[in-house]
Amino acid sequence: MAAELSPIDKAKFVAAKRAVDFVQNGMRLGLGTGSTAAWMVRCLGERIKEEGLRVTGVPTSTRTAELARQVGVPIVSLDEAKWLDLTIDGADEFDPNLNLIKGGGAALLQEKIVATASDQMIVISDAGKEVAQLGAFPLPVEVIPFGWQTTKALIEETLVAMDVLNRDCSLRMNGDAPLVTDEANYIIDLHLNRIGNPRQLAMVLNQIPGVVENGLFIDICDIVIVGHGDGRVSVRDINSGEKAEERVEFAPSDNIFADLGD
Ligand code: A5P
Repeated sequence: MAAELSPIDKAKFVAAKRAVDFVQNGMRLGLGTGSTAAWMVRCLGERIKEEGLRVTGVPTSTRTAELARQVGVPIVSLDEAKWLDLTIDGADEFDPNLNLIKGGGAALLQEKIVATASDQMIVISDAGKEVAQLGAFPLPVEVIPFGWQTTKALIEETLVAMDVLNRDCSLRMNGDAPLVTDEANYIIDLHLNRIGNPRQLAMVLNQIPGVVENGLFIDICDIVIVGHGDGRVSVRDINSGEKAEERVEFAPSDNIFADLGD
């Protein structure tokens, strides 16, 4: 069944599998959202089943919570867990400083709260998400529905003074209606093409009334694991400065590949 996976899915899978090696007995884990994070939840389920690994997960979306239940990863709320040892999540872009754009899957708010409440964050990715400078991927900003058009206008006005290439903003839609997040908010995507100063932009956006959170993750990610379709992974730790090139055995059980929804 593994042979049916596309190279990109193999890349995501090997990154996820390597990240799950960091998980130890008794850990409280933040479980990210998205197609790469879904592989991680599956791999975690495998280790729980095969090795009797004991962990508790805090999901970052209803989708991840559903998958965790399906594959046998015990979950609790963040308020129950209080603080986490490790969060493993995907990203839409990461730069050389391991700053991220997240929220392509509309889960950035819970993802940011959970990652910030963790001792360590590992990002898992395919090579396509590594960029010299953030901004080609539209930056998601979660806003409350009340007065969202005013909030959007304020964001556009704020962007005039920011070091960005473009300033187009669009409300994210789900068919004919605005997309509604797990926290019942809307998402405005900022098409900036280049973000010259991500730290400044992240701070300024969060000052705007109506903005709940933005998808820039600054100084939150500790380790990035990049997977490749042939099983190679690179593991880079921003704190130690170490970078290792490794290989992950591509021999997952059929169970891992059954009914992957995300
Ligand atoms: C979810 O809101 C996002 O932050 C995801 O983590 C990000 O979009 C990566 O998703 P994929 O792993 O599906 O590319």
